[in-house]
Amino acid sequence: MKGKVYIVGAGPGDPKLLTLRALEVLQSSDVVLYDRLVNPEILEFLKPGTKSVYVGKEAGEQEEKQEFILGLMKELSLEGKKVARLKGGDPFVFGRGAEEALYLMGLGIDVEIIPGVSSCIAVPELSGIPLTMRGYSSFAVVSGEKCMGEVNWSDYTNIETLVILMGVRNRECIASELIKAGRDPEEPVAFIEKGTWKDERFITSTLQAVAEGSVEINPPAVFLVGRVVEIANILKNSKGARC
Ligand SMILES: C[S@@+](CC[C@H](N)C(=O)[O-])C[C@H]1O[C@@H](n2cnc3c(N)ncnc32)[C@H](O)[C@@H]1O
Repeated sequence: MKGKVYIVGAGPGDPKLLTLRALEVLQSSDVVLYDRLVNPEILEFLKPGTKSVYVGKEAGEQEEKQEFILGLMKELSLEGKKVARLKGGDPFVFGRGAEEALYLMGLGIDVEIIPGVSSCIAVPELSGIPLTMRGYSSFAVVSGEKCMGEVNWSDYTNIETLVILMGVRNRECIASELIKAGRDPEEPVAFIEKGTWKDERFITSTLQAVAEGSVEINPPAVFLVGRVVEIANILKNSKGARC
């Protein structure tokens, strides 16, 4: 029997943000390989007998672990297994999903991509922050994994809303670089830590305060820069808003 690998987005944390297709695939898979940012409560949806394997990467073992995951997916699918590769958020947003799909397809293995609800949109939204609004017409999603070198922060000076993922560790450097590149030091920012999880934290501040090191936050968090952050305060008071 021919195996298949499903590259599945798990959403940002709350199991109710899983898509119906993701649920269907998870409930009919033989093995689930899941990442560090996947809420383990999602595994409660698996049918009895489904094997789940944690393949999260810790700092410093990225490449070695990635090789291991590629090998495992290859081996299991060649054994004829239906494999769900479950990733936080959407698998194609800083998730190495495309890279894994290309590797498997190159070996002639069947692959299906199942999009997920990405933290970059859903986490701000559920805190009352829209990425666009009339008058704020552009947004960019940027990796903050490296502050210097790969990213030229001046490319983002005129983009109204910046959504920075993996930027917690470098937040001071990123905020300083954005100010240096011309953004207003008083521009509002928000950090949403563990968005949609039970222990979510929401903090607002300014670019200047972040650059000065006065914001305490832990990963995973979405780091948002832009005037849309002010809208959260208004939406917070509206009836029915989650925040
Ligand atoms: C490697 S990227 C993966 C993004 C993921 N594929 C997505 O679409 O959400 C990991 C980063 O996403 C953000 N992130 C993911 N889940 C989050 C959550 N529940 N709350 C806040 N930030 C989250 C953080 O910036 C984290 O460092």
